[in-house]
Amino acid sequence: MEVKTSLLDNMIGVGDMVLLEPLTEDSFIENLRNRFDHNEIYTYIGSVVISMNPYRSLPIFTPEKVEEYRNRNFYELSPHIYALADEAYRSLRDQDKDQCILITGESGAGKTEASKLVMSYVAAVCGKGQEVNKVKEQLLQSNPVLEAFGNAKTVRNDNSSRFGKYMDIEFDFKGDPVGGVISNYLLEKSRVVKQPRGERNFHIFYQLLSGASDDTLRKLKLDRDFSKYNYLSLDSANVNGLDDAANFRTVRNAMQIVGFMEDEVQSVLELVAAVLKLGNIEFKPESRSNGYDESRVKDKNDLKEMCELLGIEQSVLERAFSYRTVEAKLEKVSTTLNVSQAYYARDALAKNLYSRLFSWLVTRINESIKAQSKTRHKVMGVLDIYGFEIFEDNSFEQFIINYCNEKLQQIFIELTLREEQEEYIREDIEWTNIEYFNNAVICDLIENNQNGILAMLDEECLRPGTVTDITFLDKLNTVCAEHQHFESRLSKNSKFLTDHSLPHSCFRIQHYAGKVLYRVEGFMDKNNDLLYRDLSQAMYKANHKLIKQLFPEGNPAKVNLKRPPTAGFQFKHSVGTLMRNLQTKNPNYIRCVKPNDKKAPRIFTDSLVRHQVAYLGLMENVRVRRAGYAYRQAYEPCLERYKMLCKQTWPHWKGPTREGVEVLMADLQVSTEEFAYGNSKIFIRNPRTLFSLEEKRRGCLENLAALIQKIYRGWKCRTHFLLLKHSQVVVAAWYRRYAQQKKYTQIKSATIMVQSYSRGWKARKILRELKHQKRCEEAATTIAAYWHGTQVRREYRKFFRANAGRKIYSFIMQRLMQKYFLGLKRDLPSMSPIGGSWPTRPYRFLDTAHTELRSIFHHWRCKKYRSRFTDERKAVFEEKLQASEIFKDKKALYPSSVGQPFRGDYLEISKNPKYQKLSSAMDEKVLLADVVNKINRANGKGTARIFLLTKNNFVLADQKTGQVKASVPLPDLASISVSTQNDGFFALKLKEGSAGATKGDFLLSSEHLIEIITKLRRTGATAVNHDHLDIDISDEFLVQFKQDKVCVKFVQGAPKNGNGASCKRKNNRLLEVSVPSTA
Ligand SMILES: Nc1ncnc2c1ncn2[C@@H]1O[C@H](COP(=O)(O)OP(=O)(O)OP(=O)(O)O)[C@@H](O)[C@H]1O
Ligand SMILES: [Mg+2]
Repeated sequence: MEVKTSLLDNMIGVGDMVLLEPLTEDSFIENLRNRFDHNEIYTYIGSVVISMNPYRSLPIFTPEKVEEYRNRNFYELSPHIYALADEAYRSLRDQDKDQCILITGESGAGKTEASKLVMSYVAAVCGKGQEVNKVKEQLLQSNPVLEAFGNAKTVRNDNSSRFGKYMDIEFDFKGDPVGGVISNYLLEKSRVVKQPRGERNFHIFYQLLSGASDDTLRKLKLDRDFSKYNYLSLDSANVNGLDDAANFRTVRNAMQIVGFMEDEVQSVLELVAAVLKLGNIEFKPESRSNGYDESRVKDKNDLKEMCELLGIEQSVLERAFSYRTVEAKLEKVSTTLNVSQAYYARDALAKNLYSRLFSWLVTRINESIKAQSKTRHKVMGVLDIYGFEIFEDNSFEQFIINYCNEKLQQIFIELTLREEQEEYIREDIEWTNIEYFNNAVICDLIENNQNGILAMLDEECLRPGTVTDITFLDKLNTVCAEHQHFESRLSKNSKFLTDHSLPHSCFRIQHYAGKVLYRVEGFMDKNNDLLYRDLSQAMYKANHKLIKQLFPEGNPAKVNLKRPPTAGFQFKHSVGTLMRNLQTKNPNYIRCVKPNDKKAPRIFTDSLVRHQVAYLGLMENVRVRRAGYAYRQAYEPCLERYKMLCKQTWPHWKGPTREGVEVLMADLQVSTEEFAYGNSKIFIRNPRTLFSLEEKRRGCLENLAALIQKIYRGWKCRTHFLLLKHSQVVVAAWYRRYAQQKKYTQIKSATIMVQSYSRGWKARKILRELKHQKRCEEAATTIAAYWHGTQVRREYRKFFRANAGRKIYSFIMQRLMQKYFLGLKRDLPSMSPIGGSWPTRPYRFLDTAHTELRSIFHHWRCKKYRSRFTDERKAVFEEKLQASEIFKDKKALYPSSVGQPFRGDYLEISKNPKYQKLSSAMDEKVLLADVVNKINRANGKGTARIFLLTKNNFVLADQKTGQVKASVPLPDLASISVSTQNDGFFALKLKEGSAGATKGDFLLSSEHLIEIITKLRRTGATAVNHDHLDIDISDEFLVQFKQDKVCVKFVQGAPKNGNGASCKRKNNRLLEVSVPSTA
């Protein structure tokens, strides 16, 4: 809910001077001081804002404040410049009324700051968006640029505007800014060449020298040292709290935002540099033949550099400082300039250069900020113009400025009164004429075309002949003498003849804000504002775009012999335009007041403020405002504010508000002269009435507050009590519930506990009984079983004892045997007859059976092996068997023959062609054919013979020839002798008397001894049908050689490698065979 407030709430002093009671100058000033001491720098006179310069930053310009004042009624909050800005902006936006904000006040009173506050407020509350923000930014950033070039430090203000400024901000139908136009008034150009003590030249000079980079300065041919420039006064070059270098950066940035091109900025800086250079040009006199002095440039260096900067031909400018060409009709007369004229020309050029540059800047900014669309815009004008000035020494500038202020005062009076009047008509209130001082008469004194002071000045300036400031004063003395606001010592009005406060060279004007004494010296010059044509032509010739633009009159093609309009004329003209412009707009006033001369916070100098209050006409302002009715208020807020003063209207009035106010006023018995009912407002004539209403309201508010407090407290206590009561019931209910629940759960758990104990007890009891019962039964059964067992055993013992052991034994034995046999079957060794493995015997009692089984198994497997033999193989094995029977364990050679198969025919006699003849001689099948050695009995040496065995014979044949040497039928063979040793000697003994026996027995040796003998025995046995042929095995036997019997003895010889046994004849009867031992 929005809180309805009023200006009247929490007032310090009186927020609106209209309500001041009693209204005197003292009370007015006292009220201002009171408010100023409490940091209330703004006070209203109706809708006019008086602004005191606080000279320090107050926390009242924050974004929060902007929000606070946004869309609020003017009198709703305490006085503020934002309230005025908001009122103006809303009136412009919502009612389509063009506005102007007129800011006046003396130098340092805070006009420029106020204008910036207004602009920033409007920027903050108007629409937003990329385009709008750009426009806003450009409008706001035009300020630093203009301030740098147009402001300077003066004794009154460190940032004093030395020009008047009027800025139109244009808005579209939505209230968004779309552009602006700036007009400038009368720059104080004399400052360029000379500054009063303690003051500075325009800021830009110092900013450039402090803030520009070394490179820029080099390009501009400048030196950073201020003292190098004649135009820069040194005594206050550095100002406290002013950072020129930083400001230079701000200005450059602002120029960029506003839209200056880089080359434009450069040109501007070149011009500024040129002005500084110009100031350094000095002149010296040079005597001429005609006796006059002619000026010459002293040191041409600065001149040269300046000409280089601006692209001017040096000689042209140099000449322009020495000569002056006067053109009259078709004649051209050239006169020389003396040194002081040259200085005058130089300074005139500097002033013109700078002021034209300033005007160009304004035009250039206007180009950038001008609205893009041509449609009609709503306009808010902000006028920041120099205020009324009264110095000790007032000259032409003060005259012009004060004239401007007269005009503003006039328009103020006119507009204020008009507005007042319009409101009365609108509200249907009877209009009473108000007496006030109309300053039109003073304006007339100055601007009247026939006999106004400005017209006189112009006339004097144009008049041929010798004209001086004094002739001008004379003229005034004659023309204006009668005027009641003009005072001069020499005027016809004799009353001033003895007025010593009025010097002879001065005139005085009674301005609306006080009397001002003007010294006429310099009026003519300043009004003329003369620049020699040679100089403007020299400038025009410059090879510099900007300079050329600034001096269009220097164009020789457009020589204009007419004098240029005077400064006074120009000013009057522009003031006239401004006034016409302002008259079309709804005015809003900000009257700035300076509290002290020291630029210091918290100091309120009474006399100074009194003076300002006087010349700003503030008292007049209040009087005018109070002339009819001092206070007015719409019915609704009025009723809202005072309804508590009457029973009928309190607390609510149901009918129309006006009737409510009427009832209220009647009830309060306010005298009917004291107020009037308008259509929408009530008008209160006297502030006293209002204050008595306020007083009653305050008293009533206290009662109301007590009442409200009472009701509130009662309500609060009651609610609190009810709440407590209710809480108590709730708490009790909850507690009871909780207690019952708790009790219940306790009982429940106790019951369950008891129950469980009792059940447990019962169950245990039953269990015990059951267990006892079971144990009894088990015991009975066990006893019964034992008893039965005993009985049975007792009965059957006799049957068991005799056989059980045997049966068990045989059973076990059977079982063991079974196991043994099954195991044997599973682990039978290999079927090979030579396999020697046999499972170990598991039990000793099976010893015999096991050995027996082993032999049975061996026989069985041999039988199995044999059963697979063919007849031939069988014969071979039989032979082998026989050999074994004969030789096994009897002859040492035998074991080595076991592994050798008996091949029989070693010579392959039938196939070998060598033995073909021998073979064919055999008519029987050869069973054995081998080479043997026949031992010669004479020496024991062996001769190789082929030994053949057939079924009936054995044959010895020559090995080489195959000739049969002996063929002996087997039946003639009596026996065979061999040694026990490891040799191949054998003797074939023939039966005595047989055919073969004639030659004696044969002693032979063969490698296949075992085979030969075995075969001989087998064959011999069959041949003779004997069971066996005797084989004598001994190491000594007799051999019958023809008649002799020779003993063959076998001895063990030393082991010999490779060689077999050797035979030697020992004697006639003994042949010794040495057999190498086998070890
Ligand atoms: N509202 C304010 N809050 C704080 N300081 C202020 C305010 N108004 C003005 N000042 C201070 O006063 C100084 C002078 O103000 P400003 O330049 O606005 O004066 P002016 O009336 O424009 O003077 P001139 O006529 O010389 O231009 C400012 O530089 C600033 O220091
Ligand atoms: Mg200013």
